[in-house]
Amino acid sequence: MNRELALEVVRVTEGAALAAASWLGRGDKMSADGAATNAMRSIFDSVNMKGKVVIGEGEMDEAPMLYIGEELGTGEGPEVDIAVDPIEGTNIVAKGYSNAITVLAIADKGTLLHAPDMYMEKIAVGSVAAGKININDPIETTIDIVAQATKKRVQDLTVMVLERERHQELIERIRQKGARVKLFSDNDISAAIATAFPKTGVDLFVGSGGAPEGVIAAAGLKCLGGELQGRLLPENEAEFERCKRMGIEDPTRVLTLDDLVAGDDAIFAATGVTSGDILEEVRFLGDHLVETHSIVMRAKTKTLRFISSVHHLDHKPYVNKDNI
Ligand code: FBP
Repeated sequence: MNRELALEVVRVTEGAALAAASWLGRGDKMSADGAATNAMRSIFDSVNMKGKVVIGEGEMDEAPMLYIGEELGTGEGPEVDIAVDPIEGTNIVAKGYSNAITVLAIADKGTLLHAPDMYMEKIAVGSVAAGKININDPIETTIDIVAQATKKRVQDLTVMVLERERHQELIERIRQKGARVKLFSDNDISAAIATAFPKTGVDLFVGSGGAPEGVIAAAGLKCLGGELQGRLLPENEAEFERCKRMGIEDPTRVLTLDDLVAGDDAIFAATGVTSGDILEEVRFLGDHLVETHSIVMRAKTKTLRFISSVHHLDHKPYVNKDNI
């Protein structure tokens, strides 16, 4: 991949965030997701690459655009796999809560895991604890390992867990061990990535969430020198079959960072829709001007850029002006 691609694809998440933000707090997650998807799709058309969606909005017969297998880009330039999540946190956007992003990852052709749309058990840490954790360890052991790696006392550790009924026992065990639990309502990509940013105070992310989100988060952590391990959680025969069809022979085996994102290069880009630990919200400045905050990173060079942009809505045909 060429380095210009990193700056090109951030335009894609910016556009999706602008489109999503016009639906912020309107109680309509479908329209928000549709607008972000449409914006992503149209901006991808101008990016110089020969890309194919490996993680997208669904199978070809389920999604009108950004479907798995769809070819994106001008058709010239590097051949890449593309993983997109036009809005990570659709409920957040509909309800006007914090911490929604638009996000994508790209990597050399054939290097992103074609993760089926099912749950994945995940564990993620930043660079100080990378290489030391094991998803098979009991949570109590993992907490001790992370405490040692971060040189913090157990009671000073913060563990992020998606607030779901299925995590109740996990949450209780973390609290019993003495660490702090930070619950969040949606968007486990940001939670996983937060472990690699000391300013967030997050040391560990554990729990199950979407498998596609696991691959995108893994790309981000590869850029940050952190680690994510996963294990697919097929719940029935059909889901086991689905894993096999997607080339995953043993669906219950541990997926390392290199299984999720093979090779040494990947680009991760995200733009904040509402404010979170890492990114700020889309801000409507008046006079048709809108400000966005994005992050774009590259695994090969470990370059991380925060990009603030001001956009003029007259030049953004994919934004619903009636809502602004
Ligand atoms: P969407 O924005 O696509 O709805 O996903 C949000 C999310 O919170 C993901 O971050 C997470 O992986 C998944 O949903 C968890 O699924 P569930 O809500 O079924 O627990």
